[in-house]
Amino acid sequence: MKMQNFTMHHHLACLLLFSGPLLAFAMNTPENFLQCLSLHSENATSISKLVYTPINSSYSSVLDITIQNLRFLTPSAPKPLLIVTPLHVSHIQAAIICSRQYGVQMRIRSGGHDYEGLSYLSKVPFVIVDLVNLRSIAVDVEDETAWVQSGATVGELYYRIAEKSKTLGFPAGVCPTVGVGGHFSGGGYGTMLRKYGLAIDNVIDAQLVDAQGRLLDRESMGEDLFWAIRGGGGGSFGVVVSWKVKLVPVPSTVTVFTLRRTLEQHATKLVHQWQLIGNELPNDLFMRVILQSYNSGPNGTRTMQASFNTLYLGGVNALLEVTRSSFPDLNVTRQDCTEMSWIESILYFAGFPIGEPLEVLLNRSSNTKLFFKHKSDYVKEPIPMSGLEGMWERFFEEDEGVAQMIWNHYGGKMAEISESALPFPHRAGVLYKIQHITAWTDGGNEVASKHVSWIRSFYSYMARYVSKSPREAYINYRDIDIGTNNMKGDTDYKRASAWGKKYFKNNFDRLVRVKTAVDPGNFFQHEQSIPPFSF
Ligand code: FDA
Repeated sequence: MKMQNFTMHHHLACLLLFSGPLLAFAMNTPENFLQCLSLHSENATSISKLVYTPINSSYSSVLDITIQNLRFLTPSAPKPLLIVTPLHVSHIQAAIICSRQYGVQMRIRSGGHDYEGLSYLSKVPFVIVDLVNLRSIAVDVEDETAWVQSGATVGELYYRIAEKSKTLGFPAGVCPTVGVGGHFSGGGYGTMLRKYGLAIDNVIDAQLVDAQGRLLDRESMGEDLFWAIRGGGGGSFGVVVSWKVKLVPVPSTVTVFTLRRTLEQHATKLVHQWQLIGNELPNDLFMRVILQSYNSGPNGTRTMQASFNTLYLGGVNALLEVTRSSFPDLNVTRQDCTEMSWIESILYFAGFPIGEPLEVLLNRSSNTKLFFKHKSDYVKEPIPMSGLEGMWERFFEEDEGVAQMIWNHYGGKMAEISESALPFPHRAGVLYKIQHITAWTDGGNEVASKHVSWIRSFYSYMARYVSKSPREAYINYRDIDIGTNNMKGDTDYKRASAWGKKYFKNNFDRLVRVKTAVDPGNFFQHEQSIPPFSF
């Protein structure tokens, strides 16, 4: 029975795909698409209020509001034929059915933080389903679980948990404006990853609308698809409407500090040591290093600064014992440390001053939008001092304040979960992850290409020090330099595996099998979506 269904869906998908290009022409009149949406939505009268076309005065503001990377917030960037902002599952179902009928591509957007803008840009005619209105969060303190809709931000999730409990939390991203939908689809890490793993390691159920428009939960989607959506990347398998998460215990008091050391204060030696201690640190300790360069003196002498940005799940006394025994040279003192609640530590890591009202977590749009190009690496062997010095030299060639690296230890819980338990394969054996950053505040294409070239050449310098065959990368730090799909509709497994193996290692093949079973017509596609085997 199941097999029959599968074959039928397969045929339907192919038929719709072939009729696509003709109908796409008719899309030039969005009224047709709107009519189709009304026809297929349960609440037909309201749908037109949830759709924005270019003639609508709010179209640009709805489109631009969550775009994070200013490189893609330009008049020349491709724009959607329309944006649908569903209020009900039936609106998502209608958008899928109508996009297929009219042969237009659909992009799914939750928080809009995709580094390459894949949730709101496409080279072919497309519509956006923006989940901004689907953001309810239901926290069950007794059960220690929550249902969170994809359009919520992680900041909203943390706020709603803290509203109900001071001793429950959730291990997801550091930046509060990140959207749950894309973030959970790609893993999701934050300050508690060494204690509790990633967001996806704590997801226990989900609701998804598939390419046929069916609403599925964990039971009806089956374990293969449920596996794939927890780490296989957004925009490949369906629209995830909501996620059920297991909340985790947090102590009522946690401790934070940020210690800054320049080269003159032995930053190179400290950073070198930091690499070696990761695996011995207790899981309650998260100590990331942020590296950047700046002009230290009146003569413009460049130096590097290493910031040791730390959360300890416990009080200051216990933290001082840990740092004295495992990292004495950092010389952490009681004055450096501040005790606070877990939710206050979320604000601290997001860069808010101590005492800021918790409600800032409810702001969806960050006010620090930048132009940027980021990349990622995984380190498995400590980098020698000479390698670190080589990095600093390259940092000095880039403008002050533009380049950054953020290093965070793995180990702890991350090393206990097998590489294939979920599509996220960067587990045991990873000492730490690097995020390479270039971010700037203004300038046109020339400025952008200068910074992008810098980070590309820095990345090639780093090759000798990081994971190899494949050179692993974090899908939530989307980087289309590592490869893209052929976007002409024909799927090419070989081409896709070039980038796919970097993000997923051997899990890529299983992702392709799941994709082939659930979306053989490749309805959900973008530059780095999982392709089905050719059909
Ligand atoms: P967005 O809406 O752009 O979606 C990203 C991808 O997922 C797209 O392909 C999209 O189509 C797809 N998608 C979105 N919603 C979907 C849904 N409901 N169903 C299916 N597919 C969907 N990461 C991290 O792990 N820890 C961190 O601390 C941070 N911090 C951080 C800070 C800042 C400022 C940025 C810009 C990014 C991060 N990230 C991060 C990276 C972040 O996790 C990553 O960009 C996520 O994919 C963003 O999810 P959004 O929903 O915001 O993105």
